[in-house]
Amino acid sequence: MKRTHTCGELRSSDLGREVCLQGWVRFSRDHGGVAFIDLADRYGITQVVFDPEDLPEGTDAESVSGAMRTFTRESVVSISGTVRERVEGTEDSRNPTGRVEVLITSAELLNRSRSPPFELGDQKEGVLPNEETRLKYRYLDLRRTEMVRSMEFRSRLVHLARQYLEKSGFLDIETPVLARTSPEGARDYIVPSRVHPGAFYALPQSPQLFKQMLMVASMDRYYQVARCFRDEDSRKDRQPEFTQLDMEMSFVDEKDIQDTVEALMAHIWMGIYSEELDIPFQRIGYREAMERFGSDKPDTRYGLEFVSLTDTVRDAPYEIFRKIISSGGIVSGINVKASLAGDRAVGRNEVDRYIQYAKKAGLGGLTWMRCEDGVLKSNITKYFTPEILEGIKRNLGAEEGDLVFLIAGPWKPTLEGGGLLRRKIAEDLDMIPEGRHSFLWIVDCPMFEIDPVSGKHDAFHHPFVLPTGPPGSENVGGACFDIVMDGNELGSGSLRIHDPAVQREVFRILGMSEEKIERDFGYFLEALSYGAPPHGGIAIGIDRFVSILLGKDTIREVIAFPKNKKAQSLLDEAPSKVDDEKLEELQIMSVAIDDFFDESDEEGE
Ligand code: AMO
Repeated sequence: MKRTHTCGELRSSDLGREVCLQGWVRFSRDHGGVAFIDLADRYGITQVVFDPEDLPEGTDAESVSGAMRTFTRESVVSISGTVRERVEGTEDSRNPTGRVEVLITSAELLNRSRSPPFELGDQKEGVLPNEETRLKYRYLDLRRTEMVRSMEFRSRLVHLARQYLEKSGFLDIETPVLARTSPEGARDYIVPSRVHPGAFYALPQSPQLFKQMLMVASMDRYYQVARCFRDEDSRKDRQPEFTQLDMEMSFVDEKDIQDTVEALMAHIWMGIYSEELDIPFQRIGYREAMERFGSDKPDTRYGLEFVSLTDTVRDAPYEIFRKIISSGGIVSGINVKASLAGDRAVGRNEVDRYIQYAKKAGLGGLTWMRCEDGVLKSNITKYFTPEILEGIKRNLGAEEGDLVFLIAGPWKPTLEGGGLLRRKIAEDLDMIPEGRHSFLWIVDCPMFEIDPVSGKHDAFHHPFVLPTGPPGSENVGGACFDIVMDGNELGSGSLRIHDPAVQREVFRILGMSEEKIERDFGYFLEALSYGAPPHGGIAIGIDRFVSILLGKDTIREVIAFPKNKKAQSLLDEAPSKVDDEKLEELQIMSVAIDDFFDESDEEGE
């Protein structure tokens, strides 16, 4: 190999060495006839110099300067030369190669680059082009140091995960991508079969059923870095295709799975940060998480907890609360302490903005009171007795100057809206600690979510979760849990049903007809009937994990070739129309509508 060193490798200890570097011309400048180039590759940047006044013996100056004239920005070039110290005062202490430079003795253009559509050097904030341009030229965007570091970090994290699982007896087994539907609550991407016209494969939303069948197959401990496909609305933390660290284990209980994940996380933590991770993680019941934090993926790194006031205000002559409580709803409060707000006093204008925000967050309204002269005051306190006001104040621990918000309505949407409000307040008051992470488990989840009007049952996680009692019993729990990090759902796991009769009953409760059960899951029920062991597992979203650790705003930043917000790949322009002959071969008729690329650019949270 001609290359002797990478562009991140040379140090003062290499002074005098003859080297050959190959990389990209990130930046070049001419200082009175002396040409400087920042030569870049994945590993770093090294300054190389052509100095006509200081040519090492044997240099063909004409040939070097001729070659260098062809070096456009981002061209890939090869240079040979001698490592020397930089002139005093021109060292770059931020760059590990910044004390040395290479005095060029020969240079060659390996491949010329067109002028790049954007600057690839270290960007000052705001200099980057818009994301669409970055995605269209992703191969250039990925040359940027920040992106290289993200890819390296991701690769390292996955390597550490594999390392831990391999040493713990897990087998890495690939499951099919062309399969039958594996429901996780999203739409399937379907793939037509040419051999069986009119029949379709579904790309897996997760390897759920295959990993369970691997347990029936006695594999005992399985893992896979698995690509999953879900046709759902794009969000900052959602992509149509994404990667799970997927695991399944036989003869385990919930704690065994959680212990394994904690040990895995600790191994990754040590590998990346050389630090012990604080395990075991805190466990919070689903109801408690909702009631304290207004979220099933709470960020517990800051306070601002909700406190139930339903009983406190039950007898208040305040019509709105009365109606809500008598129809089964709740009232809950949160205290924005004056000491938290500091000099950013939350005044009337801010309160009005929170009221607007609460409406957008799905709350019917937002009641506020402020503690002044020892009592809670606002325009609605006249509807409350002094005793009830005192009760609210006591329960919320309100002190002089504190502002309290009260939310009221049906349990789930009200608490969820409250959770969004809580996060908004925390963001506004800079309460979310940067760079400190916290993991927790959400446990004690219900098996089903039941529509209060229609009575329709939906799976709380998915239909394969083991119910903690007879599936048809009231308020039956599910042996499922989530791992949450800094207010994000990182992964979901559960014990699974291994008795086919129970599985069939759950399908029925979910409203599936016998025909549908047989058609979609007959093969799976059959598999369970051949000695399926008790088993369970979990899947952790790798894209989410990496993006949280790197403090990125979206998982697109840690995926080499992500889709944009409209599920398009701007680089290869997928999805694309297919030639008529191909459709004919598949016996598919397209009634494609030309404007299927909708113009809206909305992205949810
Ligand atoms: P679940 O559907 O909760 O569970 O997914 C597990 C984890 O995968 C990640 N994830 C996503 N990441 C990016 N884009 C998406 N569209 C997306 N959807 C999910 C999240 C999530 O927590 N089979 C079960 C797991 C099990 O029970 O073992 C499952 O897939 O981080």
